[in-house]
Amino acid sequence: MRFEEMWNGLAPVGRSAAGGGYFRQPFGSAERECHAWFLDECARRDLDVEHDGNGNAVAWWAPWEAEPGAVLTGSHLDSVLDGGAYDGPLGVVTALAAVDLLREQGFAPSRRIGIGAFVEEEGSRFGIACLGSRLAAGAITPEAARELRDRDGVALADAMSASGINPELGRSAILDGVGCFVELHVEQGRDLVHRDAAIGVASTIWPHGRFRFDFTGAANHAGTTRMEDRSDPMLTYAMTALAANKQARVAGQRATFGRVEVAPNGTNAIPSRVTAWLDARCESDEQLEALVDAIARQGSERAGRDGTRLTVTDESVSGAVTFDSDLAGRLSLVLGGVPVIPTMAGHDAGILSAAGIPTAMLFVRNPTGISHSPEEHAPMADCLAGVEALAATLRELAG
Ligand code: GLV
Ligand code: MN
Ligand code: MN
Repeated sequence: MRFEEMWNGLAPVGRSAAGGGYFRQPFGSAERECHAWFLDECARRDLDVEHDGNGNAVAWWAPWEAEPGAVLTGSHLDSVLDGGAYDGPLGVVTALAAVDLLREQGFAPSRRIGIGAFVEEEGSRFGIACLGSRLAAGAITPEAARELRDRDGVALADAMSASGINPELGRSAILDGVGCFVELHVEQGRDLVHRDAAIGVASTIWPHGRFRFDFTGAANHAGTTRMEDRSDPMLTYAMTALAANKQARVAGQRATFGRVEVAPNGTNAIPSRVTAWLDARCESDEQLEALVDAIARQGSERAGRDGTRLTVTDESVSGAVTFDSDLAGRLSLVLGGVPVIPTMAGHDAGILSAAGIPTAMLFVRNPTGISHSPEEHAPMADCLAGVEALAATLRELAG
């Protein structure tokens, strides 16, 4: 089937020879190669591609006389650093294969069907989750986006220009006339494994956010400075990370410090500064706020004892999302009574839902539940079940 051929065609792009993980950073060469691959597949299918000034693209299959309310599907092509093959691309490749299947079946849509590829969904380069869809939906201002810099200090607009895109940041017309959005995604957990189901439908997304913790202290000699004379921000960071873990664990929440920068980062010097990014997730917006406050408070108390300082900055906060329950229930039935499950991962679908577009998600079973890792996987049989499920969904919504 075409899915397998397309999947294998895309598989080598951005894969590291050493560990097999993917480095498809937004506006970098591997991600642009994926994007070019997508445009090529759209051209083969005679889909009309619409680009926006944020780097997003939507490929349209449009009947001559379309009823209002286009059906948008798709996902993203970028990956986290050293990520897996499935998070994002599965939704795009499946959408192309679902269109093929519907055409083979002679299906004539009465609404436009679009396949979207949104940029910087992971926020791994510019720090804001779902940046492309957020810009398109007007959920972040162009002014705020223009301030964003990557780890090397490159501005978003400059990164876009360097990759050949003319940046015109802000709300875009690609979402005009969209009546609903359905994103298919690899599951990032084992709920479907436990329920013995290849496919599921999403109910909610936990609210989540990224918070920058800047710990500052005093650089000094690692040998000559007595332990009691130090202002060591690494110590404050370490105790804050332990406190975050404990706080989240006892409450069934999530707190992760996955990125740290140390200055000057020398073995024989006490650091002057540690910057660490907290990713926090809870069941409700109030709980998220309380969790981050508690971690910040414990970090500040510790800083007081260590002679260091802590400042905390919100970088990217995504509120709780409850997907359209009528749409979720309808799709669950159409797909034969598949489970409706929550997720703790963020998605472009969450942004579009918050922007008022009736939105649903389909999940494809992931045997280990591992994601954001080279180990991320979905069996081919389940991916093909995903193609059938997305085709049935598009038939239901665009028929
Ligand atoms: C995206 O996958 C996220 O949940 O951070
Ligand atoms: Mn994703
Ligand atoms: Mn992801």
